[in-house]
Amino acid sequence: MSILVTGGAGYIGSHTVVELLQVGRDVIIVDNFSNSKPKVLDAIRQITGKNFKFYEIDYLDTEKLDKVFKENDIDAVINFAGFKAVGESTKKPLDYYTNNVAGALSLLNVMNKNNVKTFVFSSTATVYGNSTEIPYTEDLKTGDTTNPYATTKYFIEEILKDVYKADNSWNIAILRYFNPIGAHESGLIGEEPQGIPNNLMPYVARVAKGILKELSVFGNDYNTPDGTGVRDYIHVVDLAIGHIKALEKLEKEKHGVFIYNLGTGKGYSVLDMVKTFEEVSGKKVPYKIEPRRPGDIDMFYSDPTKAKEELGWEATHDFKQMCKDSWNYIDKNY
Ligand code: UD1
Repeated sequence: MSILVTGGAGYIGSHTVVELLQVGRDVIIVDNFSNSKPKVLDAIRQITGKNFKFYEIDYLDTEKLDKVFKENDIDAVINFAGFKAVGESTKKPLDYYTNNVAGALSLLNVMNKNNVKTFVFSSTATVYGNSTEIPYTEDLKTGDTTNPYATTKYFIEEILKDVYKADNSWNIAILRYFNPIGAHESGLIGEEPQGIPNNLMPYVARVAKGILKELSVFGNDYNTPDGTGVRDYIHVVDLAIGHIKALEKLEKEKHGVFIYNLGTGKGYSVLDMVKTFEEVSGKKVPYKIEPRRPGDIDMFYSDPTKAKEELGWEATHDFKQMCKDSWNYIDKNY
């Protein structure tokens, strides 16, 4: 019995495949390398000493996907395939709705046809929109999203709830990630954004390495302790382990829709990150204060209690370790 991982060569996907292989699961990866590189597959083999099946397929290609299900004994799917750049999604909404929503539909249809109904879905804390109630709990209203990327995730969540309503034999976990950073301790896999990074950590890491000149801190007049934006950063390996725990929960429950925040419950500011990164890397991270970035909010972090109580999952890597592992990856590979 195998676990099919779509987008398994990507940042969070590759770290999850490592954890799956390490707990002895059989894995099949489907990826079209639209935002990842084939060398990641070798890195996964090197870290784990284990092998897996791989198909270079676009998950929108329903026919090819169906063949993967016919050729293998698949009992669950974890879906990481999808575009994730917020800014790009505002410029290319059709690409985002097609790849993320139509892609998920293609996958769900093939699963349904092959009677595979256990599904773990990568969602995001941005489905909470601009909620001002902090910390975010899973029962907060969702859907007041501010960009097409976030809306694709919200739509897919709603589709999954309807699918379960119509057919109670589905078994679905929706995982709402906070801000994933860090890398596997080996330094062999990590985050590889295309072009100049939009997210804070990959930017900070490149400034420390001397690839980028200086960080722009987007606003220092927010209602936060030091005025800069506060987020709940989570180590990508903790996030990966969250997927294993969610899968185990589904295997125990047999059917339902289960929604969990995956975060640490702690908030760190932009300047906290600069300071901690300088400390662990021994490098300077020059920065200048710039105006606020449109669409940003001052502060959010998770209430991770539900995942702790129901999955027995809790983040174990602290903020310093996250910065250390991000630095290790950049230092080794650039
Ligand atoms: C962003 C996305 C979110 C996505 C998440 C993935 C937006 C509006 N939201 O969240 O949908 O799920 O990434 O990790 O883009 N910052 C700087 N300088 C920089 C970059 C960021 O000061 O060069 C600040 C931001 O203003 C924010 C914090 O750093 O306060 C974190 O930003 P970022 O890493 O982009 O994540 P989010 O905006 O939280």
